[in-house]
Amino acid sequence: MDSMKGSRTVELEIGGKTRLFDIDDPVLPDWVEEEALKSGGHPYKEKLDEEDYAKELKKLQIELVKVQFWLQATKRRVMALFEGRDAAGKGGSISAILSYMNPRSARSVALGKPTETERSQWYFQRYASHFPSGGEFVLFDRSWYNRAVVEPVMGFCTKDEYRLFMDQVPHFEKMIDQDGIHFFKFWLDIGREMQIKRFHDRRHDPLKVWKLSPMDIAALTKWDDYTDKRDRMLDKTHGKHAPWMVVKANDKRRARLNTIRHMLHHLDYDGKDKKVLGEIDDRIIGKAPDMM
Ligand code: ADP
Ligand code: AMP
Ligand code: MLT
Repeated sequence: MDSMKGSRTVELEIGGKTRLFDIDDPVLPDWVEEEALKSGGHPYKEKLDEEDYAKELKKLQIELVKVQFWLQATKRRVMALFEGRDAAGKGGSISAILSYMNPRSARSVALGKPTETERSQWYFQRYASHFPSGGEFVLFDRSWYNRAVVEPVMGFCTKDEYRLFMDQVPHFEKMIDQDGIHFFKFWLDIGREMQIKRFHDRRHDPLKVWKLSPMDIAALTKWDDYTDKRDRMLDKTHGKHAPWMVVKANDKRRARLNTIRHMLHHLDYDGKDKKVLGEIDDRIIGKAPDMM
């Protein structure tokens, strides 16, 4: 069993080995560095080359601008939610997508913990109020799925609230789909050593330290509980109205390119250049039942 030692050193059971990890130690342990990219069954030994990534991303961003014109002209609505463990790369994927889009009509929604007033409302209410109007493209950095994973793991909801949520969510999403919103759900999947490496980077990089939250420290020893809640979620909330796409996200570059490609392939926008979109890498992205 994982357990807490003195200071912030934790004892972790990983792959049958007992590991000590101290996030405050500036030296990243070898076992983290060596395993990070391949952890959790990542299919590639190397990250995608940075220049290749930048070139591909730019082409896809040009397509996203076309999507934006199409949305404005047709008043259609697009919505995607990004879920994953802490440090999976949700925020970074969203900013790669939005970087050349008009902030008036393409925006991200990253809600904090609910206020007392929000707690007294229907659980879905505060999310629904951010849904896209005609012509808008809205990306959720975390979403109502907090109640499927973080909340039960961290004890922020009751068992009854969790069960009610798991029953309600397919109905909620069926309504979204029937209302004609183009709706995507992405689960960014990272391995355990990759998560540890990213937490360590956050702790020791002055530009990233704001991202390290007490929730991240707690997550270190709650890996298995998160896994269990993730699996229940992907099993019970994957359906034809709202399929879960799992993205292998240890390599942020491949993860982002394939996430964008997936959206572009599914949107019927004017001027779509299929050659530019390129092939979707089915080792990186796929429907939840095929990937897990
Ligand atoms: P993030 O990973 O999104 O930067 P955190 O790791 O701090 O943020 O928190 C994870 C999620 O848990 C966030 O969506 C946050 O709003 C939510 N959260 C934190 N504290 C509570 C709480 N007391 N009740 C409900 N949700 C909470
Ligand atoms: P049960 O139906 O009793 O097996 O519970 C379903 C799941 O809800 C269990 O896996 C619990 O871990 C989880 N759960 C929901 N809410 C909480 C909570 N507040 N604290 C701890 N676990 C919770
Ligand atoms: C992530 O890394 O998955 C989340 O977006 C958290 C963050 O970037 O701060």
